[in-house]
Amino acid sequence: MAGEFPAGFIWGCATASYQIEGAAYEDGKGESIWDRFSHTPGKVRNGDTGDVACDHYHRYLEDVRLMQELGLKGYRFSISWPRVLPRGYGQVNQAGLDFYNRLVDALLEAEIAPFATLYHWDLPQALQDRGGWPNRDTAKAFGEYAAVVFDELGDRLTNWITLNEPYVVADIGHRQGIHAPGHQSVEECLAAAHHLHVASGLAVQAFRESGRSGQIGITCNLAPIHPASDREEDLAAADRFDQWLNRWWLDPIYRGYYPPDLLESLERHMPEIEPGDIELAHQPLDFFGLNYYFRQIVSHQPGEWLDARVDFGPGPKTAFGWEVYPEGYYEIMTRIAREYDLRNLYLTENGCAYDDRITEDGEVHDPERIDFLEQHIAQVARALEAGVPVRGYFLWSLMDNFEWAMGYSMRFGIVYTDYETLRRIPKDSAKWYAQVIERNGLP
Ligand code: FCB
Repeated sequence: MAGEFPAGFIWGCATASYQIEGAAYEDGKGESIWDRFSHTPGKVRNGDTGDVACDHYHRYLEDVRLMQELGLKGYRFSISWPRVLPRGYGQVNQAGLDFYNRLVDALLEAEIAPFATLYHWDLPQALQDRGGWPNRDTAKAFGEYAAVVFDELGDRLTNWITLNEPYVVADIGHRQGIHAPGHQSVEECLAAAHHLHVASGLAVQAFRESGRSGQIGITCNLAPIHPASDREEDLAAADRFDQWLNRWWLDPIYRGYYPPDLLESLERHMPEIEPGDIELAHQPLDFFGLNYYFRQIVSHQPGEWLDARVDFGPGPKTAFGWEVYPEGYYEIMTRIAREYDLRNLYLTENGCAYDDRITEDGEVHDPERIDFLEQHIAQVARALEAGVPVRGYFLWSLMDNFEWAMGYSMRFGIVYTDYETLRRIPKDSAKWYAQVIERNGLP
């Protein structure tokens, strides 16, 4: 049997505020670092911005209807912090909160379980102006913002994710400089990483204190790390990179410490760790959210970050150049379930970009995506059989959207977005996914 899934398994799709909402300057929303970054020449491919994106802010009802047609059981979206608190703290913008009130009500009405991420990268620019994540005050502001949102939506919304991919925020935003705020500093990167841990902990604390019922967790992007060869130095490089990409996030949360070897070698760049910080990060979570896209192949390379050169594997590639490696999904799920006490696991993102286009029949045929999804969902079935407590799968993404530094050039949706007309056209993969949901498993 090609994997029947447990009853109540949440089949969903995922999106994020800046990637789909548009309405970047409407109804009192404050500027975010992605507004600023995308409007800075040279930062985003083709000069694309999220000013309009999919215009989901105005078309959310149509989008919920679309989700209903697909039969989605869950929908993961993110809340834009500067819509709720235009300056990041202080004054609450009720009009911004009301958008999420309407969205949540529409989802519940459609019997789609809402999963809200509190931070999917759109930091209020006003907080960036005071130092952003490398400044620990940002963590405190995040805790306060979280409390505002729990207070407003927590009577109906019960599934919460504190942060999306803190690794990407710290590393790609502050060390590599490819994402907003576009800085290149190891110190800023490590300070951001630490304050993201603290921030997530403060949000968990605020949730418990709110007395709201429901579950809260964090979403991280993890990957199997494979050494390029059996040579001692490649094995060591792979281990270092594993400590950075995977364990820098998992170990503080589930074990209450940073990976000791890497911590020692980064010591001189580390921010101050105040008493209580690690305890905040180490609070029990109700679930872990895993985003999986690819594995990484690592070799020893002096001069690179961590003396490690990081590559994709040799297999087939998506339009993004990411290797298609479904076995890695099983590998990472079983590893984290074995090594950490996850309680519950949600697969909060998985998907692929291909160069989809509308054909003469007016349809979008994306057999590669169906193939990709089928292979990855088969690995989820395998993991379930192996006892991994997977509770849901959220496909990235519902519709083509603003893919960060790549702008609109990467299409991850199972629904095609025509950026000229903003029309949504379900691709073949959407019809296929609807069948998977209907059967609660692969055809
Ligand atoms: C993840 C992000 C998500 C999307 C996918 C393709 O890293 O969380 O917003 O960009 O990659």
